Amino acid sequence: MKKILSIAVVGTLSISLLYAGSAPKKYPKGEVGKMVKLGEDIALHTNTHPLTKDYVGNKLKCANCHLKGEDGKPGTAGSISSWLDTATGFPAWSKREKSVQTLQDRSNNCFMRSMNGKRLPVDSKASIAIAVYITWLSEGKPIKMSRKGPWGPTNAAIWPKGIKHFKPLFKKVTHANYLNGKRLYGQKCAPCHGINGQGVGTFPPLWGKNAKGEWLSYNTGAGMSKLPKGATWIQLKMPSGQERTLSDAEAVDITLYVNAQERADFDLQKALSPSSKIGIYNSNVLKEKHSVRSNFKVLGLDIDKIRGDHKIK
Ligand code: HEC
Ligand code: HEC
Repeated sequence: MKKILSIAVVGTLSISLLYAGSAPKKYPKGEVGKMVKLGEDIALHTNTHPLTKDYVGNKLKCANCHLKGEDGKPGTAGSISSWLDTATGFPAWSKREKSVQTLQDRSNNCFMRSMNGKRLPVDSKASIAIAVYITWLSEGKPIKMSRKGPWGPTNAAIWPKGIKHFKPLFKKVTHANYLNGKRLYGQKCAPCHGINGQGVGTFPPLWGKNAKGEWLSYNTGAGMSKLPKGATWIQLKMPSGQERTLSDAEAVDITLYVNAQERADFDLQKALSPSSKIGIYNSNVLKEKHSVRSNFKVLGLDIDKIRGDHKIK
């Protein structure tokens, strides 16, 4: 964001308004403005909002990962997982679905994975409102449909680099890294996210179930559950207030520990909502399954050896 800001300083006022790193200053008038506000509200309160709570299978909100910027709006923080230019990249090619995805399709993937829930019908008010809100954040920016992946330009520049950087580091980890991750987690993360990953107050949960047996956080199909992606995000965004202070080794060990804990398995067939007939799920890949075990295995890691026990499926 800093780089873009310095360009804005030498540019015209209109350029600095476009790229200053916040939402447009005013809501659009009329019905479009109402939908922008609805989408914003849903992103802030996803698991309790009346229009979306039945589609969420954990205690998260979009804004827990698409962080608020200085204006307090979801997705306006810069860098990774920002929504400030997301809409300019859509429709976009996605290798995972082997199809060209709309912004609504992309948000539904976070409902199904990061929110451990179900896809919203694409003609529902909630699905449209979220797309309207995210599109508003890109207002005035040039459209450049992404061929690289289902991301806007900011995220397209960060995710693939982060994955490439962290992948080889994870391939070398052992039980010692897990133990170190546990120690560091206790010092640097547990004050806000809880020693059992359950979250503290308004700080969101990272894994596990509550007393009622409900899952608290993202499932094993979510980007955050993949070790290299998780480490990329955590290093850039956490600990909140001390972002970018974790070394590579620390980010690896902490993410290893967090993603070795219990979280919901992902099974695409089960996740498809009964109301969204498989025909309107815009994907050419209709079978996909993940578990903590399989997420470790793709990197050549044995979860039992890493944890030093046999507690995980
Ligand atoms: C647990 C964290 C988490 C939560 C909660 C979450 N997301 Fe995401 N989201 C991600 C990650 C990680 C990616 C990028 C993953 C990838 O594509 O590899 C992403 C990507 C996206 C993108 C593409 C953005 C871009 O420019 O690349 C959109 C749109 C999106 N999410 C919408 C939503 C919506 C809407 C919600 C709430 C219903 C939500 N997300 C909740 C983690 C999360
Ligand atoms: C000072 C409190 C604080 C500390 C310390 C902290 N976090 Fe967070 N974390 C947050 C907040 C706040 C959010 C959500 C942002 C929001 O809702 O505005 C968050 C979100 C997250 C998320 C995405 C949402 C979720 O629940 O899955 C992950 C993952 C995460 N933190 C991991 C970590 C890790 C790992 C550490 C330790 C290196 C850490 N955090 C330290 C406050 C904190």
